[in-house]
Amino acid sequence: MRLDKLLWKNGLASKKKIKQALQTNLVTIDGQPAKYLGQNVDPALQRVFMNGKQIHDNSQVYFMLNKPKGSVTAVSDDTHPTVLDLLKPEDQREGIYHIGRLDANTEGLLLLTNNGPLGLRMLHPDQHVEKTYLAEVNASLDWRAVVRFDQGIRFHDGTRCRPAQLQILETRIGYSLVKVTISEGKFHQVKKMFLAVGAKVTSLKRLTFGPFKLDENLQTGQYRPLTPSELESLKQFLD
Ligand code: URA
Repeated sequence: MRLDKLLWKNGLASKKKIKQALQTNLVTIDGQPAKYLGQNVDPALQRVFMNGKQIHDNSQVYFMLNKPKGSVTAVSDDTHPTVLDLLKPEDQREGIYHIGRLDANTEGLLLLTNNGPLGLRMLHPDQHVEKTYLAEVNASLDWRAVVRFDQGIRFHDGTRCRPAQLQILETRIGYSLVKVTISEGKFHQVKKMFLAVGAKVTSLKRLTFGPFKLDENLQTGQYRPLTPSELESLKQFLD
């Protein structure tokens, strides 16, 4: 949440007092003086001190979900179940949302949080967060597809993708099992990249997202809070 909101919730009643606290270095985040009022902070991830006293606040939540096929990545939908419908009532916190999108028929790793600015930061094009997918396609692929992915696929409409890594795990006539790693998030990107090399994706599962790996113990449709070490790796996406 914004630093000024956190300080306000913890007793600094006016904007003037909050500004003074910052100017006089009375607020520190992980040992460093706080920089500006709109800074995104989370006392569950960072040590926030005000006037020498640590602020504790567990109102922000972070979950890893193994998204099942059939659920849509939307906060609400009139006709389809959403990924938020998979949460227990006590975890359906105000403002919770999914970081990024997966198609309805894609499964795998999805992060959910009510930390508003975090998603924007993780998805910002400058971050080039890597995502790895396991895909099945309806064609036999060879080294030529690997080279095309490495050089940056061009969609049929001319859009150019950043270089991507394609690893062929299995291939035979009319079928390939592959892993693909991309570092951007264009609409239907993976499916369109394979169409550009003449293959249709028949199944797609996200395995990684930045520093996060899909927990193999999560059945499809299950979720869990992020572990302390996963929370630690979120810090790079705060201010
Ligand atoms: N690329 C796609 O085409 N679909 C997804 O769900 C994710 C990436």
